[in-house]
Amino acid sequence: MLICITALLLSAAAPAICWDGFGHQTVGFIAQKYFTHQANATVGALIGLGDAFDIGDAAAWADTIRDRDNLPWSKNWHFINPKGDDPENHVCVMDYPTDCVNQNCIIAAIMNQTSIVLDTTNPSMARRNATMFLLHFFGDLHQFFHITGFKFGGTAVRPVCWDTAAPCDSNRSLHGVWDSAIPRKLRGIPEETDRFEDKAGAKSWASDIYSRQKEQGISTNGICAELGGPDCILDWATESNKLVCSHGLKNGEAWILNHDLSKEYFDENGKLADTQVGKAGLRLAAWMNAIASTLGPEKGNDL
Ligand SMILES: *[C@@H]1O[C@H](CO)[C@@H](O)[C@H](O)[C@H]1NC(C)=O
Ligand SMILES: *[C@@H]1O[C@H](CO)[C@@H](O)[C@H](O)[C@H]1NC(C)=O
Ligand SMILES: *[C@@H]1O[C@H](CO)[C@@H](O)[C@H](O)[C@H]1NC(C)=O
Ligand SMILES: *[C@@H]1O[C@H](CO)[C@@H](O)[C@H](O)[C@H]1NC(C)=O
Repeated sequence: MLICITALLLSAAAPAICWDGFGHQTVGFIAQKYFTHQANATVGALIGLGDAFDIGDAAAWADTIRDRDNLPWSKNWHFINPKGDDPENHVCVMDYPTDCVNQNCIIAAIMNQTSIVLDTTNPSMARRNATMFLLHFFGDLHQFFHITGFKFGGTAVRPVCWDTAAPCDSNRSLHGVWDSAIPRKLRGIPEETDRFEDKAGAKSWASDIYSRQKEQGISTNGICAELGGPDCILDWATESNKLVCSHGLKNGEAWILNHDLSKEYFDENGKLADTQVGKAGLRLAAWMNAIASTLGPEKGNDL
């Protein structure tokens, strides 16, 4: 069962959103492997993590509430739609803050939720939600179709074919293929699994990415974590935005609409989902480690 839900973005397009629960959980599990002792304790206490609700669940939470529980206003926090994007002409360009209309986009959301967590005078429920929003938005920031204005983040590039020759009769979008079909094919996790199989798959993907990063000498050392401004987030968002031109829509929309994307498109681009999920987990860890060290041990453990 997919736990991704659908919602209206800016138009009548009703996309499935996020790396689906599987991808988001993986980002959470990777980050936890890089947490300092203090960050693990702080994040655990802020959210109330345990066996019944672990960091994978916490990282997927934001997609389960945005149409419910009085939080519909959070739906614009999952993406940014840069207006100048024209990948058909190999132009991917983000202009912040102009493209973050009314400061209502993923970049402002990460900054604001960071401040909410850091302010220990906030109610614990606000800090809990803010922590879970952060775990989630680092995932979305690295799913590069959340960082393009082209056809509402690729949700209106549809129908695209997957595992079936064009023309196909499914109504998938290019955005949805990156949220879900590509990561699942990469890891051999069917789209119809239940959440326990998804969880096991996410843990195994996280372990695999973590051990490959270790082999390459990658760690949180040197990862940007300036909590007080948009610079780190802007760098990462810009990197994602460029990937839409260099990979996601490299061949143009017409080509995308006329090919089975599970074939050469997947062969050429699929491993990028692994790279992006890996970066999301690592950068999220550096960010949460910085938050925990700013809060200090007393505040972290006092919650
Ligand atoms: C495909 O989905 C979009 C968005 O939900 C919808 O507007 C459109 O009518 C659908 N097309 C078909 C053929 O079902
Ligand atoms: C991190 O916290 C979780 C609970 O949130 C716990 O299960 C896990 O053992 C902790 N990891 C370390 C290395 O302390
Ligand atoms: C972030 O905070 C600013 C200032 O309070 C506010 O105007 C803006 O709407 C907030 N944006 C998000 C995405 O939370
Ligand atoms: C936190 O999220 C829950 C939904 O899980 C919602 O009911 C509650 O109003 C939110 N609280 C705050 C302070 O954002």
